[in-house]
Amino acid sequence: MADQKPILLSGMQPTGDLMLGNLIGALRNWVKLQEEYDCLYTVVDLHAITMPQEPKLLRKRTLDLLCLYLAAGIDPERSTVFVQSHVPEHAELAWILGCTGTMGELSRMTQFKDKSQRQGKNIRAGLFFYPVLMAADILLYGADLVPVGDDQRQHLELTRDLAIRFNHQYSDTFTVPKAYIPEMGARIMSLTDPTSKMSKSSEQPKSYIALLDPPDLIRSKFKKAVTDSGTEIRYDPEGSPAISNLLTIHSALTGKPIAEIAERFSGKGYGEYKVALGDVAVEALRPIQEKFKELREDKPGLSKLMADGARLAQRRARRILDKVKRKTGFVTRPR
Ligand code: TYM
Repeated sequence: MADQKPILLSGMQPTGDLMLGNLIGALRNWVKLQEEYDCLYTVVDLHAITMPQEPKLLRKRTLDLLCLYLAAGIDPERSTVFVQSHVPEHAELAWILGCTGTMGELSRMTQFKDKSQRQGKNIRAGLFFYPVLMAADILLYGADLVPVGDDQRQHLELTRDLAIRFNHQYSDTFTVPKAYIPEMGARIMSLTDPTSKMSKSSEQPKSYIALLDPPDLIRSKFKKAVTDSGTEIRYDPEGSPAISNLLTIHSALTGKPIAEIAERFSGKGYGEYKVALGDVAVEALRPIQEKFKELREDKPGLSKLMADGARLAQRRARRILDKVKRKTGFVTRPR
């Protein structure tokens, strides 16, 4: 029975184009973990509006992202796939949890510090509150495991702290979740600057490979990827961060160990290697792109998927939220 398995939840923001870092750091693990876990995967549109969004584009990207989940291998027969704003319990729990968290805790979040710099003087209060909403996403379903990339580590720590605090203050209510961060590929770096992470909201499209980039563009982005000052194809993140990043991507896309890839290309130049890697990426993304196109055109299928997902998720979310409200001291609404 599905619900005897441990529970797993994760999500992505429908901002920018889903890119290789998201696939390698998170999505491909989501697909793998479907075997052993009772999984919930959500498109976190409420999170997206912590940064300015154009409504039409947000709507399109939400549907694109749902289709990309499925195209990459998430199976809606086995996992619950839903849009966050379709389950209002997320926002409700976030409010309650926010009343247990402190300004000090939230001020320490490095992602807030980075992102708030981009908003100048008018920093959105939602951006500050964002990690509490993420904690609500996770705690609302009693998730045991949360597969994410390295940049979400601190948010997971906060989630654990909030859960422990609530349990302590009101009695055992929340499962304290664990992060699942892969050993390899948890931090894929930009193709134009190997000292900063690859990001789907980057203003420099050459810095990332979007999962839906056409083959020629993928090849050309790899060809133009910056390389290190040396000439050797070897894995050394400190000394040769650019080529090490390319080797990490290569290994993640093929499942081959880095040592084997480095050995195969030993003595070859960076130029030749980047051409080969471009071909590897095109082939790895081809099936995802084909499946995506098919799914994205099936409007009724997509509507049904969203309706079913929201219904299943909401039923589960309600159970925990009702318990939280009772423990907090809210009077139960008479039926
Ligand atoms: P988001 O949308 O920025 O990224 C989605 C997932 O991709 C991972 N990731 C990366 N992994 C490796 N290398 C990179 N360069 C890279 N860039 C991104 C992220 O770590 C993430 O796992 N706050 C989350 C979304 C969220 C969430 C949640 C996740 C909201 N609620 C509940 C898990 C559980 C975010 O902004 O991810």
